[in-house]
Amino acid sequence: MDDKQVVIVTGAGGGMGKAIIEQLLAQGHTVIGLDLSITALADIKDDSLHIYEVNVLDEARVKQIIQDVYTQYNRIDSLVNALGIAQSAIPIEDVSIEQWDQLMNVNVKSIFMTVKAVVPYMKKKKKGAIVTIGSISAVRPRPGLQAYIASKGAAESLTRGLAIELAPFQIRVNTIHPGPADTQMLSQFTAVDADVEQTKEEVFLQSVPLGRLVTPNDIANAVSYLLSDAASIVTGTTLHVDGGRGL
Ligand SMILES: NC(=O)c1ccc[n+]([C@@H]2O[C@H](COP(=O)([O-])OP(=O)(O)OC[C@H]3O[C@@H](n4cnc5c(N)ncnc54)[C@H](O)[C@@H]3O)[C@@H](O)[C@H]2O)c1
Repeated sequence: MDDKQVVIVTGAGGGMGKAIIEQLLAQGHTVIGLDLSITALADIKDDSLHIYEVNVLDEARVKQIIQDVYTQYNRIDSLVNALGIAQSAIPIEDVSIEQWDQLMNVNVKSIFMTVKAVVPYMKKKKKGAIVTIGSISAVRPRPGLQAYIASKGAAESLTRGLAIELAPFQIRVNTIHPGPADTQMLSQFTAVDADVEQTKEEVFLQSVPLGRLVTPNDIANAVSYLLSDAASIVTGTTLHVDGGRGL
């Protein structure tokens, strides 16, 4: 990234969120981290990090935080949607309406809400970058993850819709599709009665042509690129960071 940015990161306390934050701070940016659970961030000692323990679906609170950030810094350059919830692999007939709604709310509606909150400030500056963490499962599905997969497909479509809408304002919007990544979320995708470590080894790892799981740092590298001026002509695209899993 080029000049010093003010970046909002949701899912800040997650495996990928934390790596993204650490990389952005190392580059000298100011980071506003939002998450339901912020305990994982306790060891980051940096005055440029501001953490909020918040449910991103709380529209009024998120709107207020973002307004306060703009008042303090007079800029909001970027937004990274790195929050998400998983689904364990189950047949469609066992998926409850509540589970479906929860996945759609957290994995899709939250993006709509955070983008809606930051875009007025980006439009004022005629510049901005938004990155959403999707999933390679949207294009390379696994059985039993239908609701999660649908939510990630919607997140990617939303990105493309926003990219064309916001291009006149020089606001770029892109998706990253990670492959199976080494965070606590990975174990949540296994079938209810499956052995987690065995599934990681025999199913997830074996599915990656490059032969290793994606690391949070791999995702942070991709985020850094998409937020930077090096990607100034890149919008509406999906970057697969998946070791070839999508092939
Ligand atoms: N781990 C994988 O294998 C994998 C693969 C492909 C895509 N992804 C996607 O990458 C993103 C990051 O996943 P991760 O692996 O870091 O998972 P993670 O579980 O470590 O982190 C997700 C974070 O989102 C937060 N969160 C959930 N709901 C929230 C809400 N309503 N408000 C605020 N925070 C909320 C959680 O508290 C958690 O800290 C997610 O969108 C996930 O779907 C993960």
